[in-house]
Amino acid sequence: MPVNRREFLSSAAALAAASSSPLLAAQPGAPASPRRRYALVGTGGRGSSMWGKGVKDKWGDTVEFVALCDPNAKRAEVVRDIIGVTCPVFTDFDRMVKEARPDVVAITTVDVHHAEYIIRALDLGIDVITEKPMTVDEQQTQAVIDAEKRNKRKIIVGHNMRFAPAHVRIKELMLSKPVGPIRSVDFHWYLDTSHGTDYFRRWHGIKAKSGSLWVHKATHHFDYVNWLLDAEPVQVQAYGGIKRYGSAGPFRATNCRPCTHKTECPFYWDMTKSASAMRLYGGEVEKADGYLRDACVFRPEITSYDTMTATIKYTNDVILSYSLNAYMPIEGYSLAFNGDGGRVEIRDYAKQPFEVPSDLEVSVIKAFGTRTKVDIPTVEGEHGGADDALRNLIFRRPQVPDHLKLPDSRAGAMSALTGIAARRSCEENRPIAIADLVRF
Ligand SMILES: NC(=O)c1ccc[n+]([C@@H]2O[C@H](COP(=O)([O-])OP(=O)(O)OC[C@H]3O[C@@H](n4cnc5c(N)ncnc54)[C@H](O)[C@@H]3O)[C@@H](O)[C@H]2O)c1
Repeated sequence: MPVNRREFLSSAAALAAASSSPLLAAQPGAPASPRRRYALVGTGGRGSSMWGKGVKDKWGDTVEFVALCDPNAKRAEVVRDIIGVTCPVFTDFDRMVKEARPDVVAITTVDVHHAEYIIRALDLGIDVITEKPMTVDEQQTQAVIDAEKRNKRKIIVGHNMRFAPAHVRIKELMLSKPVGPIRSVDFHWYLDTSHGTDYFRRWHGIKAKSGSLWVHKATHHFDYVNWLLDAEPVQVQAYGGIKRYGSAGPFRATNCRPCTHKTECPFYWDMTKSASAMRLYGGEVEKADGYLRDACVFRPEITSYDTMTATIKYTNDVILSYSLNAYMPIEGYSLAFNGDGGRVEIRDYAKQPFEVPSDLEVSVIKAFGTRTKVDIPTVEGEHGGADDALRNLIFRRPQVPDHLKLPDSRAGAMSALTGIAARRSCEENRPIAIADLVRF
């Protein structure tokens, strides 16, 4: 049903407004209850900020931090100070549950470990908020779906991108069907040599840990477009290559700090200049698990593609053309919905190299007609205001229209499976049907 400006403003306001209902309340708008016992598993960058200090500072009246859990106890201790809590630190999940008795757990580990904690938490009767991607392969996806069913519980997947007020406005626009039925989509994502390169310094460069950028990164984009189209993927044909990083590069080292190619390498990064990186990943923390935050982007162990394209067929017969490149001189995306009545064009690039995209332009171009620019709200805050909006939904539970409901396991599965299918398609050089991967 078309949504008018007033309805949009009221739904955007609902996202931003506080209400008195508790985290994961049975019903949105239910009365306040005591703070829920909250634990964090995976105390790295995202855990310490979005689901750590951010939660404590703005939503601390709804949850009480009862535990932090990470195999690297040194990092967890640092993060306990960053968040400003006094709860105990654990390295073992089951022990943490037994001693700290959380009601809800936020999972912000390396991607490949999300599924094991989701399943264990559900089986122990604990509510789950998990970072994206929910899973990195089809076996994990099936196991999570089965665990949720057997426990009759609900998972929240942290697909924040939808909730940026600008993207909510785009969703409302699409609901009003400004160009009639959509037939095809062009979707191209560009990661620059700051953001894109950084994935290859970290665990994200290893397929077995991140599912590749098809899963780790493109999952954001697939969730966004699945939601905008209100459809699910059916089949994926994809190609990918490692063209710039890994073995394709000219130098080899373990990591940047001791590297002998510092002056010639365009990707040399001096981690010691970043106080926050040194605090989370350097010194005693690094010694505890040997994880190198500034690993060489040309190390031969890299298995994640840096150059990717896919064609995706959807349940509503739409065909989508997608690409992701991770060494671009620009950061941002272009997305267009081609319909019988014209084209909706979205373009969001960084104004300057190495800045976050902030030059969002949305136009409706009518067939045989004119181009009209659409008014888009700009909001300060991480990920264009998306992170605050998502946490507000989770921790305050305002009443919202259906299209602003929290992403559930089905959404988490569909976005992850699009990437999983793309990765398999690259590896096996054949189209992959989503229905062949998982049974719902
Ligand atoms: N939604 C977003 O915009 C967004 C942004 C950044 C990261 N993320 C997600 O957050 C998660 C964490 O990313 P990050 O950037 O904080 O990475 P990170 O490397 O900073 O932190 C990962 C943490 O997981 C821990 N870990 C490793 N193996 C573990 C295991 N077996 N059990 C428990 N913990 C383990 C590591 O010790 C580390 O502390 C990822 O899933 C990522 O996809 C989401």
